[in-house]
Amino acid sequence: MTPAELATRRYAVQGLVAEAGRLALDYFGRQESLGVTMKGAQDWLTVADGAVEDFLRQRLAVLFPTDTVIGEEGGGAASDAVWIIDPIDGTMNFAHGDRNWCISIGFLHNRVPTIGIVAAPALDELYVAQRGQGATLNGRPIRVSATEDLKRAYVELGWSPRVPFERYLAVLERGYAAGCAVKRSGSGALGLCHVANARTDAYLELHINAWDVAAGIVIAGEAGASINDFFAGDGISKGNPILCSTPALAPQLREIVGIS
Ligand code: IPD
Repeated sequence: MTPAELATRRYAVQGLVAEAGRLALDYFGRQESLGVTMKGAQDWLTVADGAVEDFLRQRLAVLFPTDTVIGEEGGGAASDAVWIIDPIDGTMNFAHGDRNWCISIGFLHNRVPTIGIVAAPALDELYVAQRGQGATLNGRPIRVSATEDLKRAYVELGWSPRVPFERYLAVLERGYAAGCAVKRSGSGALGLCHVANARTDAYLELHINAWDVAAGIVIAGEAGASINDFFAGDGISKGNPILCSTPALAPQLREIVGIS
């Protein structure tokens, strides 16, 4: 696909995401009817997750009938042209009325992360990137921080019960011992975007799924971040660790997280 063909796809999907954002916001404004259930321990689900994913799947099938789709709620298969969707990333926040949630869509062409769109409608923020074309927030170019010293680094460490708590605590401890300030905000997709626009210096997580990071990898990468090869091995279907940081901090953070 040429850059122009990819740009046409990007614009089309930006339109879909804007509609999906309005749908999600409508649910978000009616907290009492979110129909919150649990898929497992600390694994939250609302009716909005299914509704937004269904909407995006239907519309993507019309726009790109030969592409495949992988979604957090409905699964799916990889292909040379695959859209990877998290209908609501940060569902725990969404279910508690916290605005730090987003819709995330990434496009992999021949296994290469190529288009990333992350919309946070409750924050009025839209992150967009296309491989080789830069990354923007609400239309303005964004860039990672220039931080070089861990003693002034602001780092987000994602958590889920998929990883033994001891491993998470060990990374947290090593991060603080190295001088980082560490936080967790509950949306991996926005976590990567926040590295992209220098709100943080790095996002780390010992295991995360492809739908949480497929878009953010393009956005942060285009903003200059150093990112591990997340899609290596079974990354698309089973997830992997993620380490996304401003370049100067990457070698030290790799040691802290214990991944290459
Ligand atoms: C979760 C969030 C969270 C991350 C978890 C994800 P969900 O996704 O991105 O920040 O730490 O690994 O599972 O369940 O809100 O879509």
